[in-house]
Amino acid sequence: MMGGDRVALPQRPRRLAAVVAILAALCSPAAVVVSARKVGQSCALDRNCDAGLHCETCVADGNVRPRCTRVVPVDPQTKAKDLPFNRYAWLTTHNSFARLGQRSQTGVAIATPWNQQDTVTEQLNVSALFLCSSTPPLPISFLSPAMQSSAPTSTPALPCPICCILVSDTGFCSCFDLCAQNGVRGLMLDMYDFRNDIWLCHSFGGICQNFTAFQPAVNVLREVERFLSRNTAEVVTIFVEDYVESPMGLTRVLNASGLLPYMFPVWRMPKSGGDWPRLSDMVRDNHRLLVFTSKAAKEAAEGIAYEWRYVVENQCASLSFALALALPPDKTINAGYLTCVLRVVADGTKGMVKGTCHNRAESAAMNDLSRSLVLVNYFRDLPNFPEACKDNSAALMDLLTACHDKSGDRWANFIAVDFYKRSDRGGAAEATDKANGGLVNGTCTTRHGKTPKGIFNASSDAAAWRPPPVLQWQRLVLLPVVVFAVLLRL
Ligand SMILES: *[C@@H]1O[C@H](CO)[C@@H](O)[C@H](O)[C@H]1NC(C)=O
Ligand SMILES: *[C@@H]1O[C@H](CO)[C@@H](O)[C@H](O)[C@H]1NC(C)=O
Ligand SMILES: *[C@@H]1O[C@H](CO)[C@@H](O)[C@H](O)[C@H]1NC(C)=O
Ligand SMILES: *[C@@H]1O[C@H](CO)[C@@H](O)[C@H](O)[C@H]1NC(C)=O
Ligand SMILES: *[C@@H]1O[C@H](CO)[C@@H](O)[C@H](O)[C@H]1NC(C)=O
Repeated sequence: MMGGDRVALPQRPRRLAAVVAILAALCSPAAVVVSARKVGQSCALDRNCDAGLHCETCVADGNVRPRCTRVVPVDPQTKAKDLPFNRYAWLTTHNSFARLGQRSQTGVAIATPWNQQDTVTEQLNVSALFLCSSTPPLPISFLSPAMQSSAPTSTPALPCPICCILVSDTGFCSCFDLCAQNGVRGLMLDMYDFRNDIWLCHSFGGICQNFTAFQPAVNVLREVERFLSRNTAEVVTIFVEDYVESPMGLTRVLNASGLLPYMFPVWRMPKSGGDWPRLSDMVRDNHRLLVFTSKAAKEAAEGIAYEWRYVVENQCASLSFALALALPPDKTINAGYLTCVLRVVADGTKGMVKGTCHNRAESAAMNDLSRSLVLVNYFRDLPNFPEACKDNSAALMDLLTACHDKSGDRWANFIAVDFYKRSDRGGAAEATDKANGGLVNGTCTTRHGKTPKGIFNASSDAAAWRPPPVLQWQRLVLLPVVVFAVLLRL
């Protein structure tokens, strides 16, 4: 059995040696039970990659092999909580509600393009990191009764809530780390009067149609409410592309979703530039939801902030969506849905020209310091799933820098993209980190001059980001499991 030149250890000591080796591996800080690959390394499945990453190709960039790419930006609150809100950058999703493959709740087939891959809840918070994925799932008897429940549980010893669920009736469970949030904190929602209610539609001409209607807005707003109520230190910003004409319609739908108590009041927003309240004060006061509308009159009528009084924003989409839908070439029929594929009309990439960053028509000039927040859009008129990974990579970084230079040396506070998870490496997450890094390095100018240093310093490079410390817990649970399993075999 053994090679001739090797001295065979007696059975028992050999097994004991194996136990010791496994224990040593589990206890060493580098031990990871889930094989954790870094950004850019090849992979087969999401779970091969480190926390905060997923596994994908970017064929548009010539990246045919699947690699681990980033999804989750560094949470700037882990670096600093006490800076003015305008010193932070947040990952933002364009048409956050238009999820790939989503059907219209009208029952009619949707004939509008999709912009994102996951639900709003998943964008804010994804709990899909399997801790037990590369090993067999844990026998449920190894978990405390609290962990056996499907409700998120948090014990003082654990840094994050852990949620374990029973997998069918096998007696085994899979555990999720609820710290693994996708970190989107800005949502762009198109709201329309429709069917005597307010719906999220991806429509044109200001009118929602059966085939452009996704779902009642209250559903998605309730997802936001659930997230805010469960995550008491998080702040979310909603940009409403507002086609709602019904009196107090926006207020009513916000009220119906339970979001009104979280709203950051308009009177507290800086009116002529200058710093916003500190993030920590917003959290303390539970003013954790910013809502901006594109309709100026609603600020006086409903107390909902008119976006361009507070925000400068670059131009991205230019071609009318209706026109694009009407264009026959290059459209594909996808599972019965009409999906317009982008190569039509010069790619619809006007506003995506390298090195340019123009304000959109409704916005003041990018360098107008009387608006303290900067929103950078980078997406096509028609969302393009295959190309999005390329757009969200080097080109996004270039735009971010161009917009910084055009915005009075201010980095973006909101970075809005389609298919935010897609990139060839660091993607929109890295862009957000870059803006957060830039916001702090003392280069941020406001009306009141240079602001102090902030979130990331030169030595806290975003690339050095560590996944949340869930593996400690994993070791804690797996330790007895492995010991038990190995001892059984002795
Ligand atoms: C939209 O759908 C409703 C019910 O599903 C139907 O009554 C109505 O006629 C439809 N409208 C159009 C314009 O198709
Ligand atoms: C995350 O989302 C799941 C649903 O996917 C939900 O059950 C869970 O409570 C959420 N966690 C937090 C912290 O919001
Ligand atoms: C919000 O809804 C509650 C009950 O549904 C109602 O009593 C209240 O007046 C509403 N508030 C606003 C501002 O609409
Ligand atoms: C901060 O500034 C230093 C020196 O100007 C620079 O080397 C560093 O890259 C900057 N850091 C970030 C995160 O921008
Ligand atoms: C820079 O960041 C690192 C890591 O976050 C931290 O340890 C260090 O104290 C910071 N340095 C300064 C000068 O803030």
